[in-house]
Amino acid sequence: MGTLLETQNVCKYFGGLKAVENVDMKVEKGDIFGIIGPNGAGKTTFFNICSGFYAPTHGKIIFNNNDISGVSPDKIARLGMARTFQNIQLFKYMSVLDNVKTGFHIKTESTMTDAILHTNRYKKDKEYVNEKSIEVLKKVGLSKYAETKAGNLAYGIQRKVEIARALALDPTIILLDEPAAGMNPNETDSLREFIKQLNEDGYTIVVIEHDMKFVMRSCNQILVLSFGQKICEGTPEIVKADEQVHQAYFGKGIIAGKGLQ
Ligand SMILES: Nc1ncnc2c1ncn2[C@@H]1O[C@H](COP(=O)(O)OP(=O)(O)OP(=O)(O)O)[C@@H](O)[C@H]1O
Ligand SMILES: [Mg+2]
Repeated sequence: MGTLLETQNVCKYFGGLKAVENVDMKVEKGDIFGIIGPNGAGKTTFFNICSGFYAPTHGKIIFNNNDISGVSPDKIARLGMARTFQNIQLFKYMSVLDNVKTGFHIKTESTMTDAILHTNRYKKDKEYVNEKSIEVLKKVGLSKYAETKAGNLAYGIQRKVEIARALALDPTIILLDEPAAGMNPNETDSLREFIKQLNEDGYTIVVIEHDMKFVMRSCNQILVLSFGQKICEGTPEIVKADEQVHQAYFGKGIIAGKGLQ
């Protein structure tokens, strides 16, 4: 299928702290690619580098054959990379539909002046955003919540709304930072199905997750980080059998109770 996202020797230093050190990764088109590692391993920092929120201290990021090292997040988003954040970033007092609409701003061209003067361009953009947002909600099965305030929804549904908003970019790849965190087992199962469906619909997924059951069942390829470095990469079977991975997790009992199932 071909490589969609690749990092080469990526590093990010915060002063003396090597948060990410020489990480190579290859995400192929069609993957559900997992990133795991103990707390503070550098997973979110690595996502921030891939999506342009941090420039790498060293190294290269190639997305869809473009070198995007140091490119701004909005430009990377326009190239087709969407992401969600570790903490839910919805507008709690806005409806689900309005939240999804905010994801489309990058696709429209109206200026503030257009909005004030209600120009034809503004009206056309508004119509487009409304239609597309309704379409996205339908696609992900959230139409019935369109008018509900995001903050009033169950946690698991809020996570899906965030992903729906990310789809507004019409991405080829979606980066999800701990989408199952804080979910109960039913919500986690439903999220797993949801992500599988998105993948079947053609989206390549990269997901950071602590829930090992989730990762081992959903991902075809897994990268393991520990203290900023890659300690293993491969299929769930390879990762499960790796001695260094067991050391990283069980050596210090960091995520006791969430074993490599
Ligand atoms: N902006 C920053 N400035 C300084 N240090 C940072 C910054 N962001 C992250 N760090 C440090 O970099 C290291 C990696 O953090 P990061 O958030 O990437 O880990 P993580 O693997 O996502 O952890 P978690 O599983 O807890 O989310 C940590 O030691 C963290 O304190
Ligand atoms: Mg993190």
